Amino acid sequence: MGIYGGVLPLETVNEANCYRHRGPISIGFKISGVLRRRSRKFRLLSLNLQAWLCAADRPGACRESLLLRRLTTFAQLFGHQTWWMSSFRASARIGLRAVPHHVTEERDLKMGLFEGKKGLVLGIANDRSIAWAITEQLHQQGAEIGFTHLPDAGDRPKNERKVGKLVNPIGAKFLMPCNVCEDSDLEAVMEKAAAEFGKIDFILHSIAFAPPADLTGPTWAASREGFRLAMEISAYSLLAVCGAAKKKDLFSENSSVLTLSYFGGEEVIPGYNLMGICKAALECEVRYLASELGPEGTRVNAISAGPVKTVSAQGVGDFDQMLELYKGMAPMRRNITAEEVGKTGMFLLSDLASGISAEIVHVDCGFSKMGAPPADFGQSKDA
Ligand SMILES: NC(=O)c1ccc[n+]([C@@H]2O[C@H](COP(=O)([O-])OP(=O)(O)OC[C@H]3O[C@@H](n4cnc5c(N)ncnc54)[C@H](O)[C@@H]3O)[C@@H](O)[C@H]2O)c1
Repeated sequence: MGIYGGVLPLETVNEANCYRHRGPISIGFKISGVLRRRSRKFRLLSLNLQAWLCAADRPGACRESLLLRRLTTFAQLFGHQTWWMSSFRASARIGLRAVPHHVTEERDLKMGLFEGKKGLVLGIANDRSIAWAITEQLHQQGAEIGFTHLPDAGDRPKNERKVGKLVNPIGAKFLMPCNVCEDSDLEAVMEKAAAEFGKIDFILHSIAFAPPADLTGPTWAASREGFRLAMEISAYSLLAVCGAAKKKDLFSENSSVLTLSYFGGEEVIPGYNLMGICKAALECEVRYLASELGPEGTRVNAISAGPVKTVSAQGVGDFDQMLELYKGMAPMRRNITAEEVGKTGMFLLSDLASGISAEIVHVDCGFSKMGAPPADFGQSKDA
């Protein structure tokens, strides 16, 4: 059951910092607004209002956060009436109750790993994106984040809306369009980050693209233009993003950059084709960037993730077969989850990884270390 997390002034309580303090145990917050009522008996009755949040198994993070926001708004709207609401348990298990001032005054907030840390996340398309899985972890640890989305073509702000629906409820510091092929877009993002944050502590680059015709065919058939575009978006963009941040002197003394790669950049994975070549370049960039930015305190790493069903992944040939292959071949006889990539991503961006740079960290249940199929390959019920 719940512990009480501490004291927050009313104006700083919002869905974002409530969400941030969610964890496997229940956390409570004091909203220090005073509820007052004049009555004949008591001239003035004042109570502190305390909202507490149970998050024991927390499957619907956003829903919880939304519900808490509504409750907070409710508290503000009705803050001038005496009211009492004993705890109730909806699916999100959130309750409000009124308690006397002194009960909650002394308690401290639990600090997240990213408390006071600020950074940028590039590459959320929807809630299946790997960038979103990492963002969820960063946010739970208290990070302040500015986001970008792929600019919308035409009048309908489809991408903006889709990404906004995810990031606004968790307190996005900003959300801007950014096509990594456009230097002016990158410059605008860094300018905004400088104005909002001063310095940044992390950048997550989770971006790739290749024209479908060039991606699904053999590499020798890739068009010159398809190759150029795939390389520009999937590999060069990491240099461009880091360059744009560096030119604005944005990196803090203890900062971290993370990108996403795949094993097809190291060895031949049939179907990964042109993207494998892009990932080889990307992984090489990680080492050069780490060497160049390291002296000023910036670490650069990549996660080489196992297959995760995302929009981009659907474009890779034989993707479903790849999923099956991992189940039969990986030492752990299963595939990874997006959450596992999220946790490792958060770790690499955090100070816990302060001694790790220029690394390609495999989050693939060990798949990349197998030199030949295991003895039971093809026998498991799932494979
Ligand atoms: N899904 C997997 O199985 C898997 C495995 C290993 C590595 N990765 C890598 O993870 C990263 C994220 O991919 P994902 O699987 O989450 O898919 P995703 O489609 O959710 O994310 C790809 C992102 O790239 C963005 N993007 C494409 N072109 C862009 C441009 N010109 N400017 C700005 N943004 C652009 C898209 O808007 C999208 O947000 C990619 O680098 C991908 O290669 C994915």
